[in-house]
Amino acid sequence: MDFNFTEEQIMIQQSARDYAQRELIKDVLERDAKAEYPAHHVKALAELGFLGMLVSTEWDGGGMDTVSYVLAMEEISKVDSSVSVIMSVNNSLVCYGIESFGTTEQKEKWLRPLARGEQIGAFLLSEPEAGSDATSQRTLATDMGDHYLVNGTKNWITNANSAETYLLIAQTHPEKGHKGINVLLVDRHAPGISLGPHEDKMGMRSSDTHSVMFTDVKVPKGNRIGEDGFGFKFAMKTLEGGRIGIAAQALGIAQGAYERSVQYAKDRKAFGTQIINHQAIGFKLAEMRIRIEAARYFCLKAAWLKDQHLPYGIASAMAKYYAAETAMYVTTEAVQIHGGYGYVKEYHVERLMREAKLTQIYEGTSEIQQIIISRDIMAE
Ligand code: CAA
Repeated sequence: MDFNFTEEQIMIQQSARDYAQRELIKDVLERDAKAEYPAHHVKALAELGFLGMLVSTEWDGGGMDTVSYVLAMEEISKVDSSVSVIMSVNNSLVCYGIESFGTTEQKEKWLRPLARGEQIGAFLLSEPEAGSDATSQRTLATDMGDHYLVNGTKNWITNANSAETYLLIAQTHPEKGHKGINVLLVDRHAPGISLGPHEDKMGMRSSDTHSVMFTDVKVPKGNRIGEDGFGFKFAMKTLEGGRIGIAAQALGIAQGAYERSVQYAKDRKAFGTQIINHQAIGFKLAEMRIRIEAARYFCLKAAWLKDQHLPYGIASAMAKYYAAETAMYVTTEAVQIHGGYGYVKEYHVERLMREAKLTQIYEGTSEIQQIIISRDIMAE
C-alpha cells in the first residue's frame, strides 16, 4: 500500500483548498441564511474543472481519478457542502451514469456540456413514497412506441431547478417490479415538467432542492439508457460511486469542524489556561481526530478500489456509513467545545452540524448502508 499522493493529486487538493478558503468562505453564512443558490461558485468550479473532474478527457472532462475527487470534495466540504453536493451529484451520479452506460450519441449530446460544467445535471430517483425503498417507483414511463409518456412526482431532488439534464428513474412495467424500471435522459425544460417550491432545509440550504412533477412529458425512446428494464441496476451501480462522493463530503464536514475546534480550544481560556489543556477538551479532540483519520482511510480505500476497477460497492457503503456517522459525532462535539459560541451562526460549527445530518440521510441512509453491508456478510 502506498499512502503517498501523486503530485497531481496534491495539486488538485491544493486548488480546491485555495478556492474554498479564499472564495467560498466569504459568503457561505449569508447564502446559508438566505438559502441562496451559489451560481457564481458553480461557474467558478466549472472553470477550475471540478464539475466534470471524473469524466475522461475524451468526453471533455478532467480525466482525474477518484482519489483526487475525494481530496477535492473534502476541501470544498470543509467550508461549504451546499456547493460540494452540486459537484458530487454532477460528477459521480449524472456524469458517471451517462459515461458508463450511455451510447456514443447520448454522450455526445448530454455528457459533453455536463463534463465541461457548462450545464449541470440532477438524479431523480426518490419519490414521496419511495425513498429508502427505491424499487417502489410509482412514476410511470409508459411505452408509447417511439417515446415514453412520463407521469409522476420525484422528491428532494438536488439541482432540480439549476440542472439542464435530468437522469430520471421511472417504472415502465409495474408487473415486473424492479425489472420493469427504466432510466431516461430528460430535458429539464420539456413541456409538462413543473417544480415544487424550494425546500426549506435544515442544512445545505443554498443548494437547490425541489420536488419535480411530470405531467404527460414526452421522452424519445432514444433517451433511454441501456436495455429495457435496466433502470434499477443503473441506479444501484451509480449510487455505489455517488456514495464515495458523499462520504468524502462528510469527511470534509468533520475535518472542517475539527480544525475550527482545535483553533478555538487553543484561543479560549478558562480556569486560567487554554481549554485544550483541560483533559475534558483534549480527549474530545483526540477522539475526533482518530475517527476522522479512520473515515479518511475508508474514503480513500473505496476511491482506490474504484480507480483499480475492482469491486467497490461494499467499500463505498462502509465509507459512506462511517464518514457520515463521524461527521455527526465530530460536529456535535465541535459545538460542545465551542459552548455558547458554538450555538450561534458566526462560528460555523452549528452550520456544519446541520450539514452533517444530511450525510446520514441522502444517497442511502446510514441504515441502508448497514443493510447493504449485512447482506454482503450473509452472502459470504
Ligand atoms: N449493483 C447492481 N445491482 C444491484 C445492486 C448493486 N449495487 N444492488 C442491488 N442490485 C440489484 C439486485 O441484484 C437485484 O437484482 P436481481 O433481482 O436481478 O438480482 C435488484 O437490484 C434489487 O435488489 P434488492 O432485492 O436488494 O432490492 P431491495 O428492494 O432490497 O433494495 C436497497 C435494495 C439497497 C435497499 C436499495 O433500495 C437502496 O439502495 N435504497 C436506497 C436508495 C438511495 O440510496 N436513494 C438515494 C437517492 S439519490 C440522492 O440522494 C441524490 C442526492 O440528492 C444527493
